[in-house]
Amino acid sequence: MAHILPLTPANIRLAAQALRAGELVAFPTETVYGLGADATSDRATAAIFEAKGRPSVNPLIVHLPDLEAARRIVDLGPQAERLGVQFWPGALSMVARRRADCGLSRLVSAGLPTVAVRIPAHDGARELLRAAGLPIAAPSANPSGAISPTKAAHVAAAFGDRIAVILDGGPCTLGLESTVIDVTGARAALLRAGGVTIEALEAALETRLDIPGDENSAPRSPGQMRSHYAPSRPLRMNASSANPGETLLGFGSAGKCAFNLSPSGDVREAAANLFHALHLLDTPPWTGIAVMPVPEEGLGRAINDRLRRAAADTTGAKPRNG
Ligand code: TXA
Ligand code: MG
Repeated sequence: MAHILPLTPANIRLAAQALRAGELVAFPTETVYGLGADATSDRATAAIFEAKGRPSVNPLIVHLPDLEAARRIVDLGPQAERLGVQFWPGALSMVARRRADCGLSRLVSAGLPTVAVRIPAHDGARELLRAAGLPIAAPSANPSGAISPTKAAHVAAAFGDRIAVILDGGPCTLGLESTVIDVTGARAALLRAGGVTIEALEAALETRLDIPGDENSAPRSPGQMRSHYAPSRPLRMNASSANPGETLLGFGSAGKCAFNLSPSGDVREAAANLFHALHLLDTPPWTGIAVMPVPEEGLGRAINDRLRRAAADTTGAKPRNG
């Protein structure tokens, strides 16, 4: 098995050494656990794709300790600078043009002229990034297409001894991945709903985001295949009760259910519980997971995005992604 190590200064130093040696290190962030590797190394980056079984056409997010480090990798225009100052550290990843001298492996970008960058709002993660002194590529630490990890145990169960070190920082506070936006065009485009709400981004930009499905919307992220975040059992949304064989994932004032994402109907609490609940309910004897409706506002949009992708997998919309 991989070494699960508590997030102490000594273990952060050890994990940083492993990263510098080109090894894979799983580490906590405020969103989900990441599977990190040296983003400047082809070999280390290739190991991420291999461990996850991730299609090489799906690019990775590069994690940095601060805005100055991000500026050395990408050209952030005025609007991205503004978002960086307001939302970093935080659950926002911005896809921007790679600088010619960025030093990143081409694999990180899957051949695109862009790269996604993020500064996590997690002290331990930023200490690790500082100690490594390298840009760290880190997708969510789950096999491609499977449920994202919000605990060290999820990572250990999925990867076992395929990773050198798993740093255990306890459960992720936000529990949903970052929002991904493309800032290369005149108008910022949403690529993935996530921890920073569309409402907050639009308020900061004082304009609307380009959102998929809207008219005039631009081509989408490679990571936006429909099937994703999937439990091994069929998932059914907007359920009011469980059918025979199903277990019920509740929200708000539900009656009897196997797990309630938030009895008080708080979408933030539901986001933090979502992946944990899916890991928990994706077990025998259940043949399916029924999920009660979650309101389509604020973090609820990101929750419903993940549920829709999880549900899509059961309709045979493979291949999985990310
Ligand atoms: O919260 C998060 O973002 C977590 C933590 C570990 O930081 N990471 C994460 O990474 O969720 P991943 O690889 O599971 O999802 C990254 C998403 C994918 O949908 C990918 O296609 C998209 O970001 N992406 C990355 N680089 C891109 C690029 N250059 N252009 C377009 N989309 C990109
Ligand atoms: Mg992922």
